[in-house]
Amino acid sequence: MIETSHAFAKINLSLDIISKMSDGYHYLKTVMQTVSLSDEITIECVPGKGAKDTKDTWDTKDTQYTKAKDTKDITIVAGLQFLPTDERNIAVKAARTFFAHTGITGYKTNIRIKKHIPVSAGLGGGSTDGACVLRLLDKMFDTKLGRSTLETLGKSIGSDVPFCIAGGTCLAEGRGEILTDLTSIPQSYFVICKPPFVCSTPELFRHVKCEKIHARPDTNGIIASLNKRDLSGVARRMYNVFEDILPRGARDIAEIKYALLDYGALGAVMTGSGPTVFGLFDSESQARKAFEHLKTGYRECFFTGTVDRLEGI
Ligand code: C5P
Repeated sequence: MIETSHAFAKINLSLDIISKMSDGYHYLKTVMQTVSLSDEITIECVPGKGAKDTKDTWDTKDTQYTKAKDTKDITIVAGLQFLPTDERNIAVKAARTFFAHTGITGYKTNIRIKKHIPVSAGLGGGSTDGACVLRLLDKMFDTKLGRSTLETLGKSIGSDVPFCIAGGTCLAEGRGEILTDLTSIPQSYFVICKPPFVCSTPELFRHVKCEKIHARPDTNGIIASLNKRDLSGVARRMYNVFEDILPRGARDIAEIKYALLDYGALGAVMTGSGPTVFGLFDSESQARKAFEHLKTGYRECFFTGTVDRLEGI
């Protein structure tokens, strides 16, 4: 059997770090939103000793793909040379977690990822691939695990995976796994732009000193604005505490923000642990103009819409 699905990116409309927990993780309070930028994931499960060799299974003309490495029963073909194709890949972890939980054995599983979401960019690219693998396998094997179990499995793979299971507009607390569904954001457009460097999430968290965070997002105000369907109210309150912690790149981030605001964004902030910045627009034409302008200077620039809560679980 074979199935394909989109794995959608996330952005953080706000991100607040409340405290450091005893396990070393940080207690977060963040409003997350699914956007239409996505990777494409195809999973093929073949019963028995093994599927055909990956070279036969996938289109070999797709030369951008790295050659699959056999990690016993799960093989992965990832779209970028530097992505791990072994157990360190979050998609492999997700498949392994699914099979361990359900007790299903005797299948050779091939995962193919067409990467479009920039990596180490604050867009949840790895987390959404992991979440998508869990959802797809649940569908393919008709295991009907349901949202709550999938989120619990997702938590063991990565902090953002539970949100990526459900998607839509959510408040995420704790490590990111305590989710509250929020009123969906009104129709809006996001221009997403990544400066040409990456941020390591663990490294950035190591720089966090909770007692030194002075400016914080108005999370409750964002939730109230969502309830009132007041997009400007959401945009005015967006803020990410990581922006004051970034060890470098502040100038790039400021330049992208100013450009987005100049082109009519209602608000512009960094997402996750950065360095990607997004602008929130109520006007599609203004968003397109901002996108056309920014993509002349930045290779990784995207025009996106919102995606509602993912159905089917
Ligand atoms: O859970 P995940 O593997 O995505 O987290 C990556 C790293 O980010 C963790 O090892 C931890 O250092 C940091 N982190 C944190 N608090 C969170 C989420 C992540 O300190 N709530």
